[in-house]
Amino acid sequence: MFVTFEGCEGVGKSTQLNMLKEYLKKTGQDAVYVREPGSTAISEKIRSIILDPENTEMTAQTEALLYAAARAQLVAEVILPSLAQGRTVICDRYVDSSVAYQGYARGLGTEFVRSVNAFALENAVPDVTVFIDLRPSAAFRSVRREDRLEQEAADFHDKVYEGYIAQAKASNGRFVMIKPEKDKLATHKKILDALRERGVIK
Ligand code: TYD
Repeated sequence: MFVTFEGCEGVGKSTQLNMLKEYLKKTGQDAVYVREPGSTAISEKIRSIILDPENTEMTAQTEALLYAAARAQLVAEVILPSLAQGRTVICDRYVDSSVAYQGYARGLGTEFVRSVNAFALENAVPDVTVFIDLRPSAAFRSVRREDRLEQEAADFHDKVYEGYIAQAKASNGRFVMIKPEKDKLATHKKILDALRERGVIK
């Protein structure tokens, strides 16, 4: 199974991924954990170019292509080989991030972003996408703004959220919408239930 996690900045996605990882370790369930952009030597180098706050002159097109390039390497080097071995792959962000951030928020359009990514994906489509469903305007205040994408204005992050919602509606059930609770353990349990229901974990 190929599982991805998506959400806006500062919604607790990393915390939930760590809790899931701990749970799967504790219960002896194998999985491969990767994050985007990154998780291969080449993809991590591309990541540092994309997120460098000094790269103010980067065009939206360059940004989209760099995310796709980092993804192509990760798909070929880790995701497809791991799935071929029958392992579960859990990926922090994937192509839905590109559609939401570059397609909707940057305004490149979903068609451009999807066609660029078609080269990268090689049919590696997630079975389940866990979406932490929280508007960034509420979530974002608690986040430190350090990298180039985080420094975007609030309306950029609102558009990211709208982009996710549009994709979720069109996803034929691939998106699992998780409304985060104040208690992160309660959110964790919601995610476990959803993944159990879909046969991803025990
Ligand atoms: P990261 O620090 O990993 O953010 P987070 O913890 O929120 O996942 O930085 C990744 C940033 O890149 C984040 O702002 C989302 C953005 N991004 C895109 O714009 N397009 C993409 O395709 C991906 C994978 C990420």
